[in-house]
Amino acid sequence: MSLPEVLKDRLSLPLIAAPMFLASGPELVIECCKAGVVGTFPALNPRTTEQLDEWLNEIDKQLAQFEQETGQKPAPYGVNLIVHKSNPRLLDDLAIIEKHQVKLIITSLSCNAEVIDRIHAYGGIVFHDVVNVRFAKKAASMNVDGLIAVCGGAGGHAGHWNPLSLIGELREFFDKTILLAGCVSRGSDIAAAQMMGADLAYAGTRFLATKECRVVDDYKDMIVRSSAADIVYTPAISGVPASFMRESVIDAGYDPDDLTPAAEIDFGAEMVGEDKTDKKKAWKDIWSAGQGAGGIHDVPTTAELVSRLKAEYQQAHEAQAKKSQRYL
Ligand SMILES: Cc1cc2nc3c(=O)[nH]c(=O)nc-3n(C[C@H](O)[C@H](O)[C@H](O)COP(=O)(O)O)c2cc1C
Repeated sequence: MSLPEVLKDRLSLPLIAAPMFLASGPELVIECCKAGVVGTFPALNPRTTEQLDEWLNEIDKQLAQFEQETGQKPAPYGVNLIVHKSNPRLLDDLAIIEKHQVKLIITSLSCNAEVIDRIHAYGGIVFHDVVNVRFAKKAASMNVDGLIAVCGGAGGHAGHWNPLSLIGELREFFDKTILLAGCVSRGSDIAAAQMMGADLAYAGTRFLATKECRVVDDYKDMIVRSSAADIVYTPAISGVPASFMRESVIDAGYDPDDLTPAAEIDFGAEMVGEDKTDKKKAWKDIWSAGQGAGGIHDVPTTAELVSRLKAEYQQAHEAQAKKSQRYL
């Protein structure tokens, strides 16, 4: 088990609330960190680089105020950078991140040694999203501090590997931090992730259905009434395989059982707002969620959710201790 210094003794649960396009904003990040869970957001959620600077100012201010008022250290927060040739903001956003010395950077899509070196140079750490061992080995060779194993059933651009096999194989060559992503909805899932060999769990869909999340209420309600069977995993909507709720695919005018493959992924069009067509768009109109939706039945505040996850995590460990006594 390995945890970077910046996360040691700062977390109330071994959990990161994953960055989600259009969904994670300062409100969610601040509430997560106050509750002792790492809050994160994609750098592309603020619609300009100037706005990214404003968001970071606000988060820094609120967390400093929390620490001053309570004497408690909040969990650190993280920012997600989409490292891809079609993200025109990458270098400008990175300059703002350097200015704020953001402790944790989550890189996704591809890995870039120059970006990693610049983050390490100011003392930040980099966790990189991977869906298989080939990508993980490449990221490890570039000296990332952690690998996020995005497994089958995850929300967003999910992988398709079983978590036992992916975490197991990653552990054979990577002794730094490993995170398990995909279907972490309950405290017992966090305990299970650690039993499988992960250091931390990484949850997206569960945090979509919280009061502070920025998606509309209809989106949150759809998660509450969805189960794993309602999740469509397809490359047709976003260019790479991703998970979307069946009901929202139908609402957007598509047949979830007969989807035409999309062209190559283009974040310029998809995420930076250059697409001026009136076609229904992934993320904004076609709503993503993972198979973990099946374990989500309400829309609590983030503080309520974290406190429930903690109780469930503890119960899972107590139950496990009793179960394993029979065999040990
Ligand atoms: C609506 C939505 C948007 C997402 N956007 C991003 C993103 O912008 N960047 C990223 O690295 N991952 C993104 N993800 C993936 C999450 O960070 C995380 O890997 C995933 O949600 C974990 O699986 P879970 O949803 O089953 O918990 C997104 C996921 C969802 C559900």
